[in-house]
Amino acid sequence: MKSTCLSKCKSWLFIFMMLLIFKVGCIQGICIEDERRALLEIKASLQEFANYYGVDNLLSTWVDNGSQECCAWERIKCETTTEYVTHLSLSNMLGDHDSHYDYYLRPKWRLNFSPFLRFKELRSLDLSYNDLDDMIATTGLERLSSLKKLEKLNLSTNYIQTDIFRSFGSIISLKVLDLSYLYGDNQYPLPHDISELSALKNLEVLDVTGCSYYGTIQMQGSDTITPLRKLKILNLGWNDFNESLIPFLSSLRSLRILDLSFNRIFESFPCQALSHLPNLEKLDLSSSSFINGTASNEGCKSLMRLKNLESISMQYSDLNKSMISCLSFLPSLKILNLRYSRILGSSFPMQEFSLLRKLKTLDLSFCDLHSLTLNELHNLRDLEVLLLNDNQFNGTLPVEGIYTFCSS
Ligand SMILES: *[C@@H]1O[C@H](CO)[C@@H](O)[C@H](O)[C@H]1NC(C)=O
Ligand SMILES: *[C@@H]1O[C@H](CO)[C@@H](O)[C@H](O)[C@H]1NC(C)=O
Ligand SMILES: *[C@@H]1O[C@H](CO)[C@@H](O)[C@H](O)[C@H]1NC(C)=O
Ligand SMILES: *[C@@H]1O[C@H](CO)[C@@H](O)[C@H](O)[C@H]1NC(C)=O
Ligand SMILES: *[C@@H]1O[C@H](CO)[C@@H](O)[C@H](O)[C@H]1NC(C)=O
Ligand SMILES: *[C@@H]1O[C@H](CO)[C@@H](O)[C@H](O)[C@H]1NC(C)=O
Repeated sequence: MKSTCLSKCKSWLFIFMMLLIFKVGCIQGICIEDERRALLEIKASLQEFANYYGVDNLLSTWVDNGSQECCAWERIKCETTTEYVTHLSLSNMLGDHDSHYDYYLRPKWRLNFSPFLRFKELRSLDLSYNDLDDMIATTGLERLSSLKKLEKLNLSTNYIQTDIFRSFGSIISLKVLDLSYLYGDNQYPLPHDISELSALKNLEVLDVTGCSYYGTIQMQGSDTITPLRKLKILNLGWNDFNESLIPFLSSLRSLRILDLSFNRIFESFPCQALSHLPNLEKLDLSSSSFINGTASNEGCKSLMRLKNLESISMQYSDLNKSMISCLSFLPSLKILNLRYSRILGSSFPMQEFSLLRKLKTLDLSFCDLHSLTLNELHNLRDLEVLLLNDNQFNGTLPVEGIYTFCSS
């Protein structure tokens, strides 16, 4: 009795296993029919564009040959159990074409968002690097809000200058929005108002690097509504923002990484605003001048609250003694990058540097330093990397206890 049960169980188990293997083997790659058709429509919309540039292997696996194995197609990922398309990467559909094609004459991808709306489980859509232009504002971009699972949208490196921020305001599911390097021929684009994104309460990463944006970033709404309260990474580098941006920053309590490099000069180190960002880990303020504004002692002291701030980059900046000593209030500063910066004053502020006690990496390359006595750097017990490439001084460095790497 016992043994028959056992063998029965075994055979059931065997059948079950076979079914499982069969099912997995069989289902693999099979996708939802409506989504397969949507993909083929997207491919068709790219055809003119591809012909013009002589791209003859455009999406070569996306073929309508009766097989339903579209989950195995290139640039797609499906959910393994439900077979819904979750990731669609249509970045750089042209390949690297010759840039001599005239911008105005060459055909553009007339993107129609309708087929995209059929991917109900879509989580990530990458449309970067595609020559998309201002027409995108009229193609129903905002309808992507019907994709309730969409978490990541990448439109980086296209020719979009019109203000499309409003179009994203309703895509509440977004966690990552990459709008970096959107530029065109207009040297003075309209100001963009980030408050139009303030409904994106799940947003964790916002990248608008290199868009020539300027203007104040206003945040409407009362203090009780904290917009963008989950924002962890904010890249605003290579724009034209000025100090009027600062009040906005201090409301972003979750921020960990902040890039403000290469904007309009920030006249004083924004101590007070930054001190409201207790989670800040990495800060880039390259290309600023901190010699005319006064960083008050009070302001400097408030930096003590930034217990997680470990890395600061201030390349191509003007600094002086008091700026360096201000940094010494940061309790965890480990990496300081001052490449190509000018450290003003009659002598190198060695004493101030020696107060940066947690420092592990100090980059003073290309700083046009003429003299340096490193003796006091012995106070920096944790210093592991000191970069001094391309400076003007003579003689040898006393390096006991300090490792120097002079790569070229
Ligand atoms: C259909 O095309 C796919 C390539 O996407 C290929 O792997 C498959 O074998 C083809 N099926 C048939 C029946 O031709
Ligand atoms: C967006 O696309 C660009 C270009 O393809 C890529 O460099 C960048 O890392 C992408 N952004 C994100 C957040 O994945
Ligand atoms: C900073 O930018 C704002 C908004 O564009 C502008 O009104 C203001 O004049 C600018 N301030 C300075 C000092 O340039
Ligand atoms: C700092 O002040 C000096 C003298 O007043 C002025 O020439 C210089 O342009 C100022 N620098 C900046 C970045 O504002
Ligand atoms: C350095 O700059 C600060 C402004 O940050 C200014 O108040 C101070 O006078 C300058 N100090 C020296 C020694 O040049
Ligand atoms: C470098 O050393 C030479 C010889 O000792 C000296 O004449 C010269 O002034 C020094 N240059 C600098 C920048 O210190």
